[in-house]
Amino acid sequence: HVFNLKSIGSSDLGYITVAEYQNQISFEIKRVYWTYYTPNQVTRGHHAHKVLQQCIFAVSGKIEFELINPNGEKLNFILDSPEKGLYIPKMYWRTIKFSHNAVLLCLASEIYVEDDYIRDFDEFINYKFK
Ligand code: TYD
Repeated sequence: HVFNLKSIGSSDLGYITVAEYQNQISFEIKRVYWTYYTPNQVTRGHHAHKVLQQCIFAVSGKIEFELINPNGEKLNFILDSPEKGLYIPKMYWRTIKFSHNAVLLCLASEIYVEDDYIRDFDEFINYKFK
């Protein structure tokens, strides 16, 4: 789901937005990464995570998400403001498109483990029925 964050400041002074464990973020943050310079025509993602939870922000630009939940339902979300966050639970298949100037910031509940990824869509579909 998308959630709104407070922006502290003013157009005269600029803004700050905060995401803090136990307030805006429900899980302990073990990893932070950011992606940038993704060309307009490129779609990234194409995977789900067995355990990982994420909160994602578009600190710049616009980012469009198509998610498929563990019931196989499609959900679409757009981050187009640094005041919005998207929480992605475990086992959501995601495809992501970026505006040319988009910077995606991700707060992650786990360190990087390649074995946590499901990169095959059929494996994702079958996994949820186990
Ligand atoms: P991936 O998560 O597949 O990115 P996207 O879904 O945005 O295309 O990661 C891309 C590459 O970066 C992949 O080879 C794994 C590597 N990577 C790390 O080494 N550590 C990390 O924390 C992340 C997120 C990715």
